[in-house]
Amino acid sequence: MARLLLAALMLRDPETALHGRRVARVALRIELVLSERMRPLPFPLDRVSLRTGAVLHDIGKVGIDLEILQKPDTLTEAERAAIRRHPRLGYEMCAPYEELRAVLEIIRHHHERWDGAGYPDRLTGHAIPLPARVVSVADAFDALTSERPYRAAQSAARARRIVEGEAGAQLDPDVIEAFLAVPVLEWEALRCLPDG
Ligand SMILES: [Fe+2]
Ligand SMILES: [Fe+2]
Repeated sequence: MARLLLAALMLRDPETALHGRRVARVALRIELVLSERMRPLPFPLDRVSLRTGAVLHDIGKVGIDLEILQKPDTLTEAERAAIRRHPRLGYEMCAPYEELRAVLEIIRHHHERWDGAGYPDRLTGHAIPLPARVVSVADAFDALTSERPYRAAQSAARARRIVEGEAGAQLDPDVIEAFLAVPVLEWEALRCLPDG
């Protein structure tokens, strides 16, 4: 099921599909540090679900107008609101399928913020499921190190500093700490792996 969804996303919006795969690699690397440091983990962090959830976190974008998703200029407020629907859309799309049950919380909550100012449910801190908090950090890092129509890709070192600055605001400080424990060279190498 997850593979079928990814194949559909790949046909419609390859950039988002590849982004999901990169986010999965970063999320799994963070999980490795977390599971070494935080024993026992406050929540079970199952690596298979984390990977699938990270790959599919933006699947709800299949329900958003491509013209908005790929618009090179600044978005209007209405367009931003349309894009902000993607976590809920993805959740609603996947919710009926038993085999996707474990990844629903990642899809729905990857845009929540540690300080509570995120969406769609404005969850705060530890109320946000841990896998979603891990994917948020990986998502932020991948977004910064990817080229955007309105700016060039940032270096891994610079992206790492920006992500660090979001500790306690957008992102979970403990997950950031795990992210920072991985040397920047390793993040660079991870980005250079062939997609797949
Ligand atoms: Fe997203
Ligand atoms: Fe994303």
